[in-house]
Parts: sequence; structure tokens; C-alpha cells
Amino acid sequence: MAKGAAPCPVTEVTALDEERLAVGIDEFDRVLGGGVVPGSLILVGGDPGIGKSTLLLQISFLLSKNNQVLYVSGEESLKQIRMRADRLGTLSQNLLLATETDVQLIEGYLNDINPSVVVIDSIQTVHISDFGSAPGSVGQVRECTAQLTRIAKSKGISIFLVGHVTKDGAIAGPRVLEHMVDTVLYLEGDRHQSYRILRGIKNRFGSTNEIGVFEMGEKGLSQVENPSLLFLNRYNGDRVPGTVVVSSLEGTRPLLVEIQALVSGTGYGVPRRMTAGVDHNRVALIGAVLEKRVGLNLGNYDLYVNAVGGVRLDEPAVDLGIALALASSFRDVPVEAGLAVAGEIGLTGELRPVPGAAKRANEVFKLGFSSFLLSAQSEFKDVGDKRVLRVNTLEEAMGVAFKHR
Ligand code: TYD
Ligand code: MG
Repeated sequence: MAKGAAPCPVTEVTALDEERLAVGIDEFDRVLGGGVVPGSLILVGGDPGIGKSTLLLQISFLLSKNNQVLYVSGEESLKQIRMRADRLGTLSQNLLLATETDVQLIEGYLNDINPSVVVIDSIQTVHISDFGSAPGSVGQVRECTAQLTRIAKSKGISIFLVGHVTKDGAIAGPRVLEHMVDTVLYLEGDRHQSYRILRGIKNRFGSTNEIGVFEMGEKGLSQVENPSLLFLNRYNGDRVPGTVVVSSLEGTRPLLVEIQALVSGTGYGVPRRMTAGVDHNRVALIGAVLEKRVGLNLGNYDLYVNAVGGVRLDEPAVDLGIALALASSFRDVPVEAGLAVAGEIGLTGELRPVPGAAKRANEVFKLGFSSFLLSAQSEFKDVGDKRVLRVNTLEEAMGVAFKHR
């Protein structure tokens, strides 16, 4: 249109109903909302060494079965990538490799080859030569992303950008790009453990908060179909004080995770609140609610709270698990056997409803737990199910969790 597009009624816009490119790994396609949308920009962030290059080489290979894929690496030599591809079993005629870092030259390749999918590994290594600052600086990273966005949109090429999360302020981390791209995924995990979580942070073409669970092995990342088992401590039937299993819902994916707490007397100074995998401020708040509404005198105690397996939980429904784990450690009494819980705690000690109660309950019973304690307000159809225990307050929850004491 020569004059520019005049505003038009929304009803007259033809909806984009593009075929998505399915990778064929459920854990990945679900996080993307059903596959790769042509012409979209997908940022894959994560700590160095967590497995981004591995994941993207595997995905490139799977997509290359039906599409031309170009994998551009500014970090490794062709030989290194070939060796990795040998190991991962990802050799394909349709998977082209390049080690170029100049965005203008990369654009030239795209014009020549016209691939459907491109991987840029990583955005911090590419640069535009007539743009003053160094590769990896905020300006370069932004400028390169803008240029690549233009190419993606005009040619209908899907572009994956790898971004290292950096603690050093001089190098631009993926955060500065989040608003520029269509989809933001983070690959997380504890480097000393084998599982990895791919978490959707932003998605213009699907819901966010989805997670995919993978395990890093000799042949790269493989999907984990029953992830709950990863985050439960395999104790041998002995129940110990200070642990509670929560039924968490990450996106549409229920996950059972064991919360561990340790309450111990403060030696000197200010009592400490230390957490791993759960929100620090939540723990401080829950400690205060336990003190004020339930009468646990935690003021002179250090509180430590962990999510087992190094998983990070950020939904409020884990509150009840944190509270009961703390209470259990403080009283030195284990919670009832076979119990899993979910509930958000309010400042008055009330339990707020949790979304997706039925899904959570299913996972709980599927994995062999005998009862599920949750907030009474939660929407749950099967109210006749005797295994589902519904309570209104934290105090009531304590009554159920420590029934025999
Ligand atoms: P990598 O994909 O290079 O990480 P990133 O691109 O995020 O920096 O993964 C690096 C780690 O993964 C490395 O420590 C070795 C491990 N790894 C495996 O355990 N199995 C494999 O098959 C591969 C390729 C890597
Ligand atoms: Mg890498």
C-alpha cells in the first residue's frame, strides 16, 4: 500500500492462522503454545553451561526433517559443533552450520539460502560492524535484535536467539531484549543435577507460565514425562519433621515438590530467613502469620526453607506447604503420612483458593498420596471425594496435618 494502511475494522483483518512448525518434543511444543510460529523471534535465555546450545542443536535437527534450518554459532567452531552433533545424533543434510558473527553477512546467507528456521547462538556474540560499540554491549545486542526482527518478519523466518544470563553488568543479558521478541523462554536448573526446566516467560502466541521438564544425559536433553518424581525426596517410609509435599501448578503442568524447612534457635543477632527455590519474602510473611495467627513463637529462630531438587516455585499455592513445613520443624513432629497440600495464605491466616484444584488432586492421587489438603474456597467438582480435605484457615490446616498429636 503506497499511502500507508488506513485504520480498518478489526473484523476485516484476516486473522493469521499460520501452520506452526511442531518440533515433535511435547515438553517443548507445549511451552511454545503448540510449535514454532513462522516469522517469530524466540529468545532462549539461561546461565552459561546450562544446555542452551545442546537444546537448540537438538531442536534444529528435529525441525530440519521438514525444513531448512541454519544454525549460526559465534561461540564454537564448526568442528566442535560437528562433534556435538555426532554425539547427539543430530546429523542432517538440511541442517546448515555457519560460524559468522556479522549480522549483515548473516542476512546475506538468509537471502541466499532462505531457511525456515535460524538459530543465533548467541545474541551476545553477533554485531553490526558500523555500529560503534562492542559485541555483547546493550546497544549492540538491541540493535542486532532489531535487525534480526526485521528480517524475521519480512521473510517469515523463525529465529531463535540464545542469550546468556550474565551477572556482569557490562554485558547485556537477555532481560534487555524481552520486550523486543515474541516469545521468551528460560532454561533453568541446578548445574549439579541432571534435570532442566524450560519456562515460558512471555509468549505472544500462547499462554505463559508453561514449563517443560528435561533431563540432561549422554545424548543431550530428553523430555521427562513424569516430572513430579524428580522433586520428591525418596525417603524410605520414615517420616521426618520439617518436610511437606506441595501440589504446585506451573502453567498447565502439575508438579509435586517437597518443601523442607529447618527452624533452629538463633545464636546471636538478627534471626535469619534463608530460602532456596521459594520466595524469600513469602517465607518472612508466612513466619509472621504463623507467629501471630497460630501462636508459634518463631521470633528467636532462624528459618531455612528449600524446595527439593533445586526447582524454583513461584506460585502462591506453595504457601501452605511452607507454613506446614516450618510448623513441623518447629514442633519436631512430622505431618500426617501420605499428605500433599496446596493453598495461598492471607495475612489473617485465611486460606485463599488455588486454581486448577482438580488437576492438582489428580497428580497427587496418581503418585500414590492418600490425601490432599487444600483451601475450601478452591473450585473443585468432586466434593464427595473423601481423600480431599478442605479447610478455611491455616489453623484448621494444622489441625488436619498434625491430627494425631
Ligand atoms: P551447553 O549446551 O553447551 O550449554 P550452554 O549453551 O547453555 O552454555 O551445555 C553444556 C553442558 O551440558 C556441558 O557441561 C556438558 C553438558 N552436556 C551433557 O551432559 N550431555 C550432552 O549430550 C551435551 C551435548 C552436553
Ligand atoms: Mg552454548
